[in-house]
Amino acid sequence: MSIGLTENSMNELTTLGEFVVKNQADFPYAKGELSRLLSSIRLAAKIMNSQLSKAGLVENLMGEVGEKNIQGEEQKKLDLYANQLFINALKARNEVCGIGSEEEDKTIIFENEVGVNGKYIVLIDPVDGSSNIEVNVSVGTVFAIYRRTSPVGTTATKEDFLQPGSEQVVAGYVIYGSSTMLVFTSGNGVNGFTYDPAIGVFFLSHPNMKIPEDGSTYSINEGNHAYFSEPLKAYLDYCKSVDKATKRPYTGRYIGSMISDVHRTLLKGGIYLYPNSSIAPNGKLRLCYECNPMAFLVEQAGGKSSDGQQSIMDLKPTDIHQRTAFYTGSKKMVEKLEEILGRATNA
Ligand code: AHG
Ligand code: MN
Ligand code: MN
Repeated sequence: MSIGLTENSMNELTTLGEFVVKNQADFPYAKGELSRLLSSIRLAAKIMNSQLSKAGLVENLMGEVGEKNIQGEEQKKLDLYANQLFINALKARNEVCGIGSEEEDKTIIFENEVGVNGKYIVLIDPVDGSSNIEVNVSVGTVFAIYRRTSPVGTTATKEDFLQPGSEQVVAGYVIYGSSTMLVFTSGNGVNGFTYDPAIGVFFLSHPNMKIPEDGSTYSINEGNHAYFSEPLKAYLDYCKSVDKATKRPYTGRYIGSMISDVHRTLLKGGIYLYPNSSIAPNGKLRLCYECNPMAFLVEQAGGKSSDGQQSIMDLKPTDIHQRTAFYTGSKKMVEKLEEILGRATNA
């Protein structure tokens, strides 16, 4: 008996392409634009999936380039490969006037005739968790899409890139895991699509995703405990203390690939934390192309995202590479964290 995805979902097969066409009325802008934007991401994701499945065998995708990006992090060959792949794919569909990427110090602004007529800005982390690739752990791609605020027909401006997360029109991620999935929102809920590599198609497998309102898993790199603030330590003590009614102590889970950790949190409930600390005063994760898109997805699924005080998406960026503390997950858990952080701070 076959239990493949395709056979299993024979009754209701919806591809990503069909889904977007069917739901394009929900997208408040011109017909076809969402479809073209997502089709460039989809194409690059398929190529990534194919390359990643043989990354351990192909010399030129593994290892370091010997250069650092603007964040001072070692760039992997895979980071640069994926960066170029997504830029090329986005450029080819003529909807985008500018791209900001973790791997590019400066924003890329398309100045040709087609580029200046593009209405969208894309901010992207082409490979999240690239330090995990050598140990065969899931990595991902995360992206945020905005409407430009400058007039169509001119070159994109700095302000187009520095919009708060609340202005996102689309956000999503691709997780290259035991199966490859593309999860996205255009502001009308969250839908997940699983890739069938045999036929090269993403099928709707997780319609209308909802994060459980409460959970019992916490996800943090607790090795940095010594550098955490006292209020955060108080919250971690709470996570580990015993109380049957609230299912404590919580289970600890930390992959070290933000997309994978948040993906699990979205499906199962829980809280993901990447705090600021004495060695990383602004946290580690980047607001514009890591936290904001994940926050939009989690909030669209009924969860919450915070920098400890306010919704991540209310922050007004001043630099596309700026970092922030990031807490996201089940609504009740994020609210409890905010309560303990607030209580300790105001004590
Ligand atoms: P990237 O690979 O895009 O630079 O992101 C790395 C991030 C994120 O994926 C992960 O959650 C986090 O770094 C892990 O950091 P720690 O090793 O400090 O826990
Ligand atoms: Mn990342
Ligand atoms: Mn990255």
